[in-house]
Amino acid sequence: MDLEKIKETTDFIKNLLGDFTPEIGIILGTGLGSLVNDIEVEHTVSYADIPNFPVSTVEFHSGKLFFGKLSGKKVMCMQGRFHYYEGYTMQQVVFPVRVMKLLGIQTLLVSNAAGGLNPDYQLSDLMVINDHISFLMPGNPLIGKNLDELGDRFPDMCDPYDMDLVKKALAIADQQGIKVQAGVYISVPGPQLETRAEYRLLRMLGADAVGMSTVPEIITARQMGMKCFGISVITDMGIPEALEKVDINKILKAAYAAEPKMTQLIRELIRDL
Ligand code: HPA
Repeated sequence: MDLEKIKETTDFIKNLLGDFTPEIGIILGTGLGSLVNDIEVEHTVSYADIPNFPVSTVEFHSGKLFFGKLSGKKVMCMQGRFHYYEGYTMQQVVFPVRVMKLLGIQTLLVSNAAGGLNPDYQLSDLMVINDHISFLMPGNPLIGKNLDELGDRFPDMCDPYDMDLVKKALAIADQQGIKVQAGVYISVPGPQLETRAEYRLLRMLGADAVGMSTVPEIITARQMGMKCFGISVITDMGIPEALEKVDINKILKAAYAAEPKMTQLIRELIRDL
């Protein structure tokens, strides 16, 4: 990836923001975009108007950046992310995360829609991600010439998800009576959902939920030393013996049902940061 392009985009956004300096980055997943309604918005910009930014092709993602205050903290929020299955390179998928770092953002919060692999989970459950499995994705944003200015060639992945944030989120959920799971997310390229045999394999590999995003962004953010937090909404169940047909409308319906509690949890977590 070209550092000059990342700097150019960062400068464009800095220009737009004036003296507003975001401290927390947020990436909202499929069907989970309404957290932006809680932001006291100071600036917005469409991806299409940002130099070097990929443009979102999934029509239910609006493709916009929001800057403003959420729970008293200055945030930069992406409504709509870039997925590998849309045809972007891994470098394009993580481009906004690189820009976040150059803007001075130290903490990244990410949400996504995911299929449940753990038989104890239920539709519309929340799962705080406590670890991930990356290597079923056919590529990786760190492959290629390393940008040494931004991070290590061989970044450590002991704690991809910040354990203090995980603990805080679980404590908040407990206090507020929000049901929440904690588990391992495994990323796949998509866009097709899994076969029964694939869901069985993913469970055997040790994952609790499967999805088509998040891991590239987290790997990149960790390489640059950002603190990360991820949360999945279980939008369909990948239990081989009880597999039901799913389509995007069912996934969106389950995401919308879980959105208020997810939004509440993220708002409270940000207040606590
Ligand atoms: N598999 C992969 N990605 C997903 C799923 C799934 O079952 N549900 C939502 N995103």
